Amino acid sequence: MQQNWGDAMAFPTANNSFSSLVQSLGEFPPEAIIFGSSETMQTLRARMNKVASANVPVLIHGESGTGKDIIARMIHALSPWKSGPFVKVNCPAIPGTLLESELFGYEKGAFTGAYGSKPGRVELAHRGTLFLDEISELDLALQEDKKVEVRVVCATNRQLETEIETGTFRRDLFYRINVVNLHLPPLRERRGDIESLVNYFLEYYNRKFNCRARTISPELVGALQKYHWPGNIRELENLMKRYVILGSEDVISTDLMERSDQEFFNPEINVDGPISLKKLTRQATRELERKIILKVLQAHHWNRKQAARALNISYRALLYKIRDAGLPPNRAVRRAPDAAAATSVAAD
Ligand SMILES: Nc1ncnc2c1ncn2[C@@H]1O[C@H](COP(=O)(O)OP(=O)(O)OP(=O)(O)O)[C@@H](O)[C@H]1O
Ligand SMILES: [Mg+2]
Repeated sequence: MQQNWGDAMAFPTANNSFSSLVQSLGEFPPEAIIFGSSETMQTLRARMNKVASANVPVLIHGESGTGKDIIARMIHALSPWKSGPFVKVNCPAIPGTLLESELFGYEKGAFTGAYGSKPGRVELAHRGTLFLDEISELDLALQEDKKVEVRVVCATNRQLETEIETGTFRRDLFYRINVVNLHLPPLRERRGDIESLVNYFLEYYNRKFNCRARTISPELVGALQKYHWPGNIRELENLMKRYVILGSEDVISTDLMERSDQEFFNPEINVDGPISLKKLTRQATRELERKIILKVLQAHHWNRKQAARALNISYRALLYKIRDAGLPPNRAVRRAPDAAAATSVAAD
């Protein structure tokens, strides 16, 4: 059996009775807001525009809340297949045993209980885009004998290269999905865009909820620019939503102070949707790790060799973790806003 994602071959269009799985693209924030002014985002935008028109698999990588969903939808909207379906598969939400039949469908009688045949989502995405979200949870032999014309976009918030090393992600699958890679920077690496995002969400939710919350003070904007945003743009958006509804700046400042110390014990849980315990735990661990590394680095005056020894990890592992956590690489830049925020917003 050959999997040929990206091959353009004829295949009958998907069964309409499953069209509820085909997502409408929804609305996008203005492009000026999505991409802001940082160089990283401009490069990403250029790359995205180029790749949108080519039928190659795209892997979007970025922390939770950095906009992977938006970029996946934009790629579809900019592609020659934009009038075709956009089919999203939230991989962790589908139990491993069902994933294969969800993706590839089944024929009547294929297994006990298969009373009819059902097209898979791959087939459903024919002449459109198949968006595999949180691909790192995918653990099956992705094979397909039907030739479907579909552009595959995958997203992950994990370092798949590391997962391959530890044996939790398949190398061959990685090479197949990672033809073009788009990396979304965390919000703490695009601090220059925070103010315009704040104003955008303020205006958007004022309009949406018919409220009149006022522009927030420069002092508070300053504090927001220093905060390290583990939940990225989603966290900022939710904070602004709360501000618009409750209408008081105290809400934001109190929130920020508490978050600096406690957010990893008190993650935001959306009980309306699927909850990934694994993901929440991972977030908490990552945040805790970040704090420990920062403390140890400070205690050793940013001597990374000493810090690595104190943490009982290799120097290389520490450098990798520092980069992954978005911490400044060395003492020379530790006075940058990033480091100031990493200590505590309350102290500012
Ligand atoms: N660049 C952006 N400009 C404006 N809003 C954004 C931007 N990026 C993300 N958002 C908003 O932040 C929220 C989270 O974005 P999105 O769902 O795309 O993130 P994600 O990377 O897919 O997160 P997760 O890994 O948790 O699935 C959404 O409400 C989205 O509208
Ligand atoms: Mg997402």
